[in-house]
Amino acid sequence: MRKGLFITFEGADGCGKTTQQGLCAKYLEEKGVEVLLSREPGATALGVKLREILLHYPDPVASECETFLYLADRAQHIQEKIIPALEEGKIILCDRHTDSNIAYQGYGRGIDIDKVKYLNDIAVAGVKPDITFVFDVDSEIAQERVGKTKDRLESLGIEFHKKVRNGYLEIAKNEPNRVHVINSNLGIEEVFAQVKKVLDEKVLEK
Ligand SMILES: Nc1ncnc2c1ncn2[C@@H]1O[C@H](COP(=O)(O)OP(=O)(O)O)[C@@H](O)[C@H]1O
Ligand SMILES: [Mg+2]
Repeated sequence: MRKGLFITFEGADGCGKTTQQGLCAKYLEEKGVEVLLSREPGATALGVKLREILLHYPDPVASECETFLYLADRAQHIQEKIIPALEEGKIILCDRHTDSNIAYQGYGRGIDIDKVKYLNDIAVAGVKPDITFVFDVDSEIAQERVGKTKDRLESLGIEFHKKVRNGYLEIAKNEPNRVHVINSNLGIEEVFAQVKKVLDEKVLEK
């Protein structure tokens, strides 16, 4: 039986996902809630190998190949970690998940969005996030925050980031109950105040 809660953190590189995930964990733990921090790709031993390819493979990777590598990572993550954690009643805070695939490979790379969604349906075996935060940030600000140590995907440029950002906003428009768009052009505490409001209403009030 499923008792836990699955919360995902989404948005462009540099938008503040990892920062806000950490603040959420601290806040919920202080309230006595048991949380599990996770991420995609790379939350399982198999996923770590896929993450290495996805982030650092030196030669061109076909968009379709990239999509399937993320899907493989996700399928393993769901079975090995997410489903057991949900069954234990944990609150999972996951840095990136299906919406990243839709925003990057769908809206960003131009792979048919319905097909990306269909493939993800297979990978997640019926498990969907209960709450998703999209940290929405101007592409220029995101790039500044990422700084100079860019990996393969972070070096894609402003135009690509704009497509991805638009993709995330479309996802949010289509699923307003699940997806919360957080204005992330603000300071870390101001961003967290928006997140905290959702946690108070949807996690702690229950
Ligand atoms: N709201 C913010 N304002 C300014 N800097 C931020 C903010 N949120 C995060 N940062 C900084 O920007 C960089 C990227 O943040 P991070 O949380 O790693 O983003 P992501 O995980 O989305 O790539 C880090 O150096 C972080 O300290
Ligand atoms: Mg991060």
